[in-house]
Amino acid sequence: MAQTMSTTELAEKIINYEETTILDVRNTEEFDDWKIEGGNVEIINEPYFNLLDGVESIGDKLDKDKEIIVVCAKGGSSEMIADLLEEAGFTNVYSLEGGMKAWSEHLEPVKIADLKDGGELYQFVRLGKGCLSYFVESNGEAAVIDPARMIDVYIRFAEEKGVQIKHVLDTHLHADHISGGRKLAEETAGSYYLPPKDATEVTFNYQPLQEGNDIMVGNTQVSVQPVYSPGHTIGSTSFIIDDAYLLTGDILFVKSIGRPDLAGFAEDWVGDLRETLYSRYKDLSKELIALPAHYTFAEELGKGGQVSARLGDLYEKNTGLQVENENDFRKMVTENLPPQPNDYQAIRETNMGKINPEHEKQKEMETGPNRCAVEG
Ligand SMILES: [Fe+2]
Repeated sequence: MAQTMSTTELAEKIINYEETTILDVRNTEEFDDWKIEGGNVEIINEPYFNLLDGVESIGDKLDKDKEIIVVCAKGGSSEMIADLLEEAGFTNVYSLEGGMKAWSEHLEPVKIADLKDGGELYQFVRLGKGCLSYFVESNGEAAVIDPARMIDVYIRFAEEKGVQIKHVLDTHLHADHISGGRKLAEETAGSYYLPPKDATEVTFNYQPLQEGNDIMVGNTQVSVQPVYSPGHTIGSTSFIIDDAYLLTGDILFVKSIGRPDLAGFAEDWVGDLRETLYSRYKDLSKELIALPAHYTFAEELGKGGQVSARLGDLYEKNTGLQVENENDFRKMVTENLPPQPNDYQAIRETNMGKINPEHEKQKEMETGPNRCAVEG
């Protein structure tokens, strides 16, 4: 029997840029749509039904002594193929436990910084989807920003740190993943904050995020300062944490910019996006470290798993910030919209509290990559 590898072990390898060889045995269409990326990953696709009668075809492509991680949708066929590879003389084969379904749910905590007067800032990297959430803790209290649906991860993390989650914030009403925000706030008896302009249709109570109303985490040590920054959605709000970190939500990424979410509003929101990126953000300190809610390109994932960039550097290098002409900008944004995320409408309705799909259905709705950026 071939060995299995957990998503945590695979995540560690990827964020540390260890050489990782993956054999993905899902069908090619699924593989092309969404696969494991990042770090130093070499990945090949060979649908499992091509391998059932013999794995010889793989033998030419892969070294028999190399570590190979076999991946499928749920972890069943990968186990079967891993066994066949072992029988054929491969010596170091693993099957990824739970397959892409489990990979999609894995959250990897990565420390970003120690904060000025004590406290810490963490980025939770969802490697399978490219979503990023944040955990700020100071003096026994914590705030979680843009939490994923897997809220137990944050609850356990808070317990380990001995802090209490008091505030849960979403930068905007998400359309690409189901927010864990409301549930996490319920579980921890914390407050749930949303931008009011994104929350006109929500079915629950929330605290409105407003500029000027800073949120304090742990006495007055860490301030979370909302900055109204529309364009991805009409309500999109960024946060400046500890005067040093700018959580940009889906407005600005390391190598790209946000898209007006969703395409139906691109024409309406492109002006807001322009204003936010070319004026509002430009007035902020260049020394702020930008921390986005997503990453799109594997190369945005830094060594150790951090996804971040100095704001001043982004104004020099990020192509989405170099378009001086407003019409060119408008064209770039509205003509390069990638496909809508899978099930985005149902995801939005779930995040508004209008529907409450059962757990398995929620997993299914989130399958696939995020598509929040404009493709340059
Ligand atoms: Fe988004």
